[in-house]
Amino acid sequence: MITARRPMIAGNWKMNLSHLEAIALVQKVAFSLDATQLQRVEVVVLPPFVSLRSVQALIVGDQLLIGYGAQDLSPHTDGAYTGDISGAMLAGLGCQYVLVGHSERREHHHESDAAINAKLGAALDNAITPILCVGEGLPVRSEGRHVEYCLTQLDGALAGLAADRLAELVLAYEPVWAIGTGEVATPEDAQEMCSALRERLRETHGAALAGGMRILYGGSVKASNTEGIVAQPDVDGALVGGASLDADEFARICRLAAAPSS
Ligand code: PGA
Repeated sequence: MITARRPMIAGNWKMNLSHLEAIALVQKVAFSLDATQLQRVEVVVLPPFVSLRSVQALIVGDQLLIGYGAQDLSPHTDGAYTGDISGAMLAGLGCQYVLVGHSERREHHHESDAAINAKLGAALDNAITPILCVGEGLPVRSEGRHVEYCLTQLDGALAGLAADRLAELVLAYEPVWAIGTGEVATPEDAQEMCSALRERLRETHGAALAGGMRILYGGSVKASNTEGIVAQPDVDGALVGGASLDADEFARICRLAAAPSS
């Protein structure tokens, strides 16, 4: 079953920009897009924690049609976890989204599928929509095991989470070899994986959930390669890193995803 899915373009700023630069970027993106475009495509920014309050004040104060969220959260509710940020804290700042399982967290912070599963639970407990990232490294792709690898990541992340809790979940396929490298996956690569992820979701959580779930592609997305990627039937937008730091480029990507043909 395929239902209409509103495309999403989410900007993962990673560890970039001061809170003042954050405000300037959001303002510029918002004023570069018209109301129709912002209705057709859901535009989301994911700044570092310390900029969330400023971004919230701007978006709420000026009633901008832009969503925002964080790049990570703790699996714990509160307590002695120095340096961590809880889902309740993010919810308190009005975050609608949180990235979970980004490959940089998996790599640099050794996040396992079990840890990612716990973080998904923490986000859902606080009514924050997770954007769950999966993706294979180059050796796995070279061996032709990329689909199986990402499906295993998906199964591990969603273990024990029933379909009724996952209605809003967003998935992002981000091949590690394409992140920040300038080497983008082909539209066919993106479609192959996004369709396999949707099919697995259908098997594990049912056709309604699978048909409605937005699955993004991420990895060196720029305006010049957006069209081919978002035109794929199972690709519902993009998770954009480097190119989301440039307001003009990010707005171009959003406009392409909002174009009626995509
Ligand atoms: P990139 O990053 O667009 O800079 O490749 C994407 C991501 O890591 O989310």
